[in-house]
Amino acid sequence: MSGPRLVLVGPMGVGKSTVGRLLAERLDVGYRDTDDDIVATEGREISEIFVDDGEEHFRALEKAAVATALAEHLGVLALGGGAVLDADTRALLAPHPVVYLSMDVEEAVRRTGLNVARPLLAVNPRKQWRELMEARRHLYEEVATAVVTTDGRTPEEVTQAALDAL
Ligand code: S3P
Repeated sequence: MSGPRLVLVGPMGVGKSTVGRLLAERLDVGYRDTDDDIVATEGREISEIFVDDGEEHFRALEKAAVATALAEHLGVLALGGGAVLDADTRALLAPHPVVYLSMDVEEAVRRTGLNVARPLLAVNPRKQWRELMEARRHLYEEVATAVVTTDGRTPEEVTQAALDAL
C-alpha cells in the first residue's frame, strides 16, 4: 500500500503535531501536517482564512490539502481537527492506518484555554468544546484503526502507545 505510514486525527490541541513529530522520528520517516500545507500555500494563517473567507472556504482548502498529502506523503501525516467532517475525506482515509488521539473535554479546555488562534473556541471554550466533541467523536472513531487516549500522558507516552497500537 502506498501513502502515509500513519495518519493522526483528533481534536485541536490534543498534540497531533508534537506526537506526530515524535512518531516520525521513531519510525525514521518524514512528518507532514495539512494545516501547515494550507498556511504555506495560502501565505496566511488559518485564523486569517476563517476571518477573511469563512469556515466553508477553509474546509474546501482543507479537503484538497488532505487529498494531496495522502497521495504524496509516505511518512506521518497529521490532519486538522475538522478534516474528518468531510465524507469524501473520510472515505480517502479508509486504506490507511489512522490513529485517533483522544482527550476528554476538561483536558481540552485546560490545554487550549482561551487560545485566540483557534477560531472555533473564541466565545465559550468549555461549551464549544463539548459541542465539538459530541459532533465529531463518532467521526474520529469511524476513520480510526486505533484510538489512543492522551489524558494524563506525556507526549512520549502517547507516542509509545500509538506505536504499540499500530
Ligand atoms: C480546526 C482545527 C485546526 C485548524 C482549524 C480548524 C477544527 O487544526 O484546522 O483551526 O475544526 O477542529 P488543529 O487540529 O491542527 O489545531
